[in-house]
Amino acid sequence: MRSTGLTADPHHKIKWDILNQLRPYFSEFKWRILFALLFLILAKISAIIMPFILKIIVDSLTQTDSSPEQLTTLTQSNLDLLPYWAVTPVALVLAYGFFRFSNVMFGELRDTLFSRVTERTIRRLSLRVFQHLHALDVDFHLNRRTGGLARDIERGTGGISFIMRFMVFNIIPTLIEISLVVGILLVNYGIAFGSVTLISIVSYIAFSIYTTNWRNKYVRAANEADSNSNTKAIDSLLNYETVKLFTNEEHECQRYDENLKTWENAKRVNRLTLFALNCGQALIISTAITILMYLAVQQIISHQITVGDFVLINAFMMQLFLPLNFLGFIYREIRVAFINVEKMLVLLARKPKIIDTPDSQPLSAYNQPVHFKDVHFNYHANRQILKGVSFTILPRQTLAIVGSSGAGKSTIVKLLLRFYDPTEGVIQIGEQSLPGITQKSLRENIGIVPQDTVLFNDTLLENIRYGKPMATDEEIQRAIKMAHIDEFIDQLPEGLNTLVGERGLKLSGGEKQRVAIARALLKRPPILLFDEATSSLDSRSEAAILEAIDEISSHYTSLVIAHRLSTVVNADKIIVLDKGKIAESGDHLSLLARKGLYHELWTAQQKNTEKE
Ligand SMILES: Nc1ncnc2c1ncn2[C@@H]1O[C@H](COP(=O)(O)OP(=O)(O)O)[C@@H](O)[C@H]1O
Ligand SMILES: [Mg+2]
Repeated sequence: MRSTGLTADPHHKIKWDILNQLRPYFSEFKWRILFALLFLILAKISAIIMPFILKIIVDSLTQTDSSPEQLTTLTQSNLDLLPYWAVTPVALVLAYGFFRFSNVMFGELRDTLFSRVTERTIRRLSLRVFQHLHALDVDFHLNRRTGGLARDIERGTGGISFIMRFMVFNIIPTLIEISLVVGILLVNYGIAFGSVTLISIVSYIAFSIYTTNWRNKYVRAANEADSNSNTKAIDSLLNYETVKLFTNEEHECQRYDENLKTWENAKRVNRLTLFALNCGQALIISTAITILMYLAVQQIISHQITVGDFVLINAFMMQLFLPLNFLGFIYREIRVAFINVEKMLVLLARKPKIIDTPDSQPLSAYNQPVHFKDVHFNYHANRQILKGVSFTILPRQTLAIVGSSGAGKSTIVKLLLRFYDPTEGVIQIGEQSLPGITQKSLRENIGIVPQDTVLFNDTLLENIRYGKPMATDEEIQRAIKMAHIDEFIDQLPEGLNTLVGERGLKLSGGEKQRVAIARALLKRPPILLFDEATSSLDSRSEAAILEAIDEISSHYTSLVIAHRLSTVVNADKIIVLDKGKIAESGDHLSLLARKGLYHELWTAQQKNTEKE
């Protein structure tokens, strides 16, 4: 199932302290934020002045006993303090235009200034998450779904942007504006106006919150259906070849359409609940405005207020309910945003299982032996993979590990690279044992040609260069020659600049392995690991590469894992791994002489070769 925890759960409490965690990012831009707040206040002041100007204009135009020359002056007592020119209707209209423009301009200035803060925060956090993901252990990455993870991060940063924009610059200012307007109405027009406004706003907010919470499960169902149909489509397209091979196109379409149908239904229900929400909100607003207008008309008739006041009240109402309309939407989105950010912060708080200890030292592996001492290991507690493995690889010697598939050979490599820690026993390089060696230096000292090579979706050149980003062209050419890919590259119309496709899918298995070999050779580390490095090659290329490997491994301490025994006959020592234990060890001839497991495997493989 999708990570449905991402959409708002009505019972999920918003964790406000998330705002606290974002504070360090704010402090970087103190001045910017201060100015943004200043512009926010200016924008709000402009917004509040506008209805007053409207009122004065209307009043000046509607004085019943005005003669033409009186029309140009205003007789309102509270305007006596203003200079003559400032109170002509023309000047007032100009002022109205000015404040309308400043309202928008200050708003834009605020957004422009503040978006820098949001973007910087997103950049900092995204980088932190990225670094953190790379620091997490292999186990985490084996269990994650890349797509889901990417979406978590995307939604998390999106959530931050939303919280910052709306929390600071929408909800709080709107609440302040509401209180100001209610205050103005109370002071200038009495209890009735103030309380009707206040009651309507409170019931509007209460209704919105209640209905939004009620709608949540429908919104979530729609989102889920949306994700599901999306995942289905992507998964199906990723397996394009398999679908074609089994001519299951129709079946796939049917399944996709079933998902789409669920989505359609969920959307329909969702739309109906939105209808209820919007209608309810509109009902509250209309009722409030009708009551206020009625009160105002009454007071105009009884000469308590002017037509200008009527216009002012109306303008304030419009100004208030417009942002309120968004509040329901924002309330829902803020909830989702908080949950998404929380999800990302939880990811950030996740501790890697494999970490350097404070006293970890860099490794000096040159001319050092590698020891496995009674190493036990399991991935899951109820299935032991290694049951006490001990061996030593002497400097510049080659140790081969053979054994059936699933015996635990690659596991030994992963332990040596410290992707996992043994449950019992010690792994040492020279005098240093693994947890005491910094992971960076450990892996810098080890080059590996893995069992399955995965390449970046980039050119061949960049993929090879990845072994040593600063390598010179000559070094790269030499590695290419040693790995015997030069012949292949020469055939390519674009040579080294050929793109290898996603995960290297445009190359054959053997070609990928040779790229991996070139990469490892380019790195030139003191310890080399070959994990079935030639398994995908035909016998001729295998022989050629083995020759290269033999030649190279005389300079390196190397561990070679192979299932074809013919490839390890030259190793200084061979270990036969069986069911997590070392069954036999020795060099090729002595192992044959023992007439044990090795001999058995050898004769079986020889027979096969003869048949071929
Ligand atoms: N990450 C993992 N989680 C659980 N089991 C694993 C994991 N990796 C390998 N295994 C299991 O451990 C056993 C040994 O694997 P491996 O060392 O890769 O064998 P091989 O000798 O063929 O290289 C296999 O049975 C495999 O299924
Ligand atoms: Mg393996």
